[in-house]
Amino acid sequence: MGKLLARAGFPVLFVAGRRLSAARQAARFIGGGRPVRLGARDLAEAPVFLVTVSDAALHDVALSLAEHVDRWRGKIVLHTCGSVGVEVLEPLRRRGAAVGALHPFQTIPSARVGVQNLRGGFWAVEGDLPARKVAREWVKALEGKSFEVRPSRRTLYHLSAFLVCPTVVTLMDRSRRLLRRSGVPARIVRPMLGQFVGETVRNFVELGGRKALSGPAVRGDWVTIRRHLRALRRAAPELVPAYRALLRIMLQLAGREAPRRAKPRRHAP
Ligand SMILES: NC(=O)c1ccc[n+]([C@@H]2O[C@H](COP(=O)([O-])OP(=O)(O)OC[C@H]3O[C@@H](n4cnc5c(N)ncnc54)[C@H](OP(=O)(O)O)[C@@H]3O)[C@@H](O)[C@H]2O)c1
Repeated sequence: MGKLLARAGFPVLFVAGRRLSAARQAARFIGGGRPVRLGARDLAEAPVFLVTVSDAALHDVALSLAEHVDRWRGKIVLHTCGSVGVEVLEPLRRRGAAVGALHPFQTIPSARVGVQNLRGGFWAVEGDLPARKVAREWVKALEGKSFEVRPSRRTLYHLSAFLVCPTVVTLMDRSRRLLRRSGVPARIVRPMLGQFVGETVRNFVELGGRKALSGPAVRGDWVTIRRHLRALRRAAPELVPAYRALLRIMLQLAGREAPRRAKPRRHAP
């Protein structure tokens, strides 16, 4: 975000980290900003703070900033976490800062990837009015779209992202292993899965969930599904509960019912 914001014309004055070496590295990557330790008193010169530490560290970093910088009135502090509200910045708000959060609905495995995929994205924005104003201004400069999520629904919002990102990566990896076991060459497995899932995603966006569905469950092909389950019990039994749970939800989306299991015949005494 530092690199993108600097490019968009928002000067980065400082890059602060708990380790100076990491702050230096980040400043080099951003292409500006004076690297300092988190406790540096000079940070008081900055009018806006963007706190991008891991979620569990937010509270401690807010406390440390509140302790080391003395004037907070008129300053703005934003964090980028989707699962934690602005309450975590309360130590700074109590000292007069306006606090907020801007959360990119995006997956950022590294800073380099973030520079590519944060432009034109979707951002949840919340907090005090001056903080929301700055956040929206940044989102606009990054050609993105901002929206608000009610604090009481934040967890639902955040788990919606969880439901379709790390889970999809996990499923793709298990699919990759099964494809390898079925004999597909290693060099083509990932591009092949990429094309397949990419097409699925495009169909979902263009057609909506129900119309984008395909496969044996939607066709009512229970013979194939039973065959899948028999093969899965042998190859990866730990995946059977996930397969069954996903099948039930898929059938609901498709408006179909699974066939009832035949009752075991009673034997004559
Ligand atoms: N990655 C994503 O896909 C994504 C997407 C949306 C939002 N976010 C949000 O963006 C924020 C950063 O995410 P991330 O994936 O970059 O997190 P991360 O890799 O877990 O951590 C980022 C930085 O936090 C610093 N940190 C950890 N504990 C600290 C402490 N006690 N004091 C000071 N610094 C500390 C670490 O600095 P060191 O270099 O010193 O270890 C690390 O470089 C999080 O709030 C996350 O929820 C991430």
